[in-house]
Amino acid sequence: MRKLVIANWKMHYGPVKAGAWIRAFRRERLPKDLDIGVAVPHVSLAAARASLGRAGVPLLGAQDVFWANDGAFTGEISPAMLKEFTLSFCLVGHSERRINLGETDEMVSKKAVALQKAGIQPVVCVGETEAQKKKGETLKVVRAQLAACLAGVKGDGASLVIAYEPVWAIGSGRPCSPLDAKNVHEAIREALVKKYGKPGSDIRIIYGGSVDARNVAEYVSTTHVDGVLVGSASLDPRAFGMLCRAALPA
Ligand code: PGA
Repeated sequence: MRKLVIANWKMHYGPVKAGAWIRAFRRERLPKDLDIGVAVPHVSLAAARASLGRAGVPLLGAQDVFWANDGAFTGEISPAMLKEFTLSFCLVGHSERRINLGETDEMVSKKAVALQKAGIQPVVCVGETEAQKKKGETLKVVRAQLAACLAGVKGDGASLVIAYEPVWAIGSGRPCSPLDAKNVHEAIREALVKKYGKPGSDIRIIYGGSVDARNVAEYVSTTHVDGVLVGSASLDPRAFGMLCRAALPA
């Protein structure tokens, strides 16, 4: 399975800076056997696409979507609108949206279904909070999130990615140990194969939470970890290029 590294800029970089980031990143030497994506704010999609041209690297993605294709939904962005930027993927259910905007598993599943209908690959984010981890509920919480978020969602390698992002590890400088990540990813893999049969074993399960150029190789070489989702360490295009090279040395 090809490894996948996704940059999640979060709420950084409007159109001007987004274009500059893409142009700088495209000067980086990148491992050919690595899939690389960048999830940019909606307002920067046009600039990012213009700087990228039709080139495949990095794959362009969004950070959120609404589930209807049009209608009276003030402020929302539809899968059909995203499709105009020829996006490859879109994050859904990031914990920052769950925490700050009350996004629920049910909403995440509706968004993932709508994206698949539009031919955009959803990257469904799950992960436990620190309190849940302390109570030993990690696997229970992640299994329940998966079951609810994947209701009605198709599952195979091309149409779905799962991101395991423990909430306590995001932006904290305290990443989940590769061994703990391996155990959770293993449980996610079991759930995917149970739900989807053999195609479930081709769905990439990526880890996110304080990944940087120093620790990325450890994650990517861990069994059941098929890539990483990178926040803070993706903001500098040259540092992110270095991270990609560290992920998969040539
Ligand atoms: P971080 O964020 O790399 O800054 O921890 C990861 C994410 O939230 O996707």
